[in-house]
Amino acid sequence: MSSGGSRIALITGASQGLGLETARALARQGMSVIVTGRSPEKLATAKADLDKDGTIFTHELDVADQASVDRLFAWLKTEFGRLDVLVNNAGRIYPDLPGRITELPASTVLDAINNNSMSAYRMIQQALPMMNDAGHGRIVNLSSGLGALSDMGGGTVAYRITKTAMNAITRIASNEARGDVKINSVCPGWVRTNMGGASAPRSLEQGIGGIVWAATLPASGPNGGFFRDGKPIDW
Ligand SMILES: NC(=O)c1ccc[n+]([C@@H]2O[C@H](COP(=O)([O-])OP(=O)(O)OC[C@H]3O[C@@H](n4cnc5c(N)ncnc54)[C@H](OP(=O)(O)O)[C@@H]3O)[C@@H](O)[C@H]2O)c1
Repeated sequence: MSSGGSRIALITGASQGLGLETARALARQGMSVIVTGRSPEKLATAKADLDKDGTIFTHELDVADQASVDRLFAWLKTEFGRLDVLVNNAGRIYPDLPGRITELPASTVLDAINNNSMSAYRMIQQALPMMNDAGHGRIVNLSSGLGALSDMGGGTVAYRITKTAMNAITRIASNEARGDVKINSVCPGWVRTNMGGASAPRSLEQGIGGIVWAATLPASGPNGGFFRDGKPIDW
């Protein structure tokens, strides 16, 4: 398999929503994009949709499963030997009724942390050494204003905790970035996707703007920040 020497971008949970549209945007910029997801059927549909936009590869990936992450990176290293952009997009909202700490089982929160936060941890553990060795790379962690401690309210317990943890992973990992490697958290705003629902105010196009911005930062760009639409927001 060959990328023809172009930059390689990998997106988790990319068979729908923000991940799919980010894949399209990066492919249109000339990157070879590896679209990953849990369902082979959804990956095939996504590839058929995206093929007109550029060079698309697909690979199964369940970010909650370490063995699945290990299989992906073994394949990536053999087939491409490089990774220029990683977008840690996969996540679940964990609609939590009850939405109170006094009612929500700890096991639900642990499951959410495994799926939404340790997922990025696992991906960064493998991607960051490759990028540091190459001296170049961009990692984008999909976060949310719901994870910002500066604006923390009640409810949505599990999801909030996972996105606060995601932000901690961004800050800590950014200190391990070497050379022109940058790791940032991005909040896409409230976007009309399966997760965001039909009444969300932002379109997919608006939602991916800040993700693509962080994935394509110049060498002078920031490392270890939290952004919406390319502008810093409070942690
Ligand atoms: N939409 C918003 O308003 C909003 C706001 C702030 C932040 N975000 C964040 O943006 C990211 C994308 O959300 P979205 O709105 O595009 O939601 P979405 O349409 O529900 O897409 C989420 C994607 O994540 C995948 N996923 C979940 N768990 C996974 C796992 N263990 N392994 C692999 N893939 C997994 C899903 O795959 P399956 O199809 O296999 O379930 C799906 O493709 C999420 O991290 C979300 O928290 C969204």
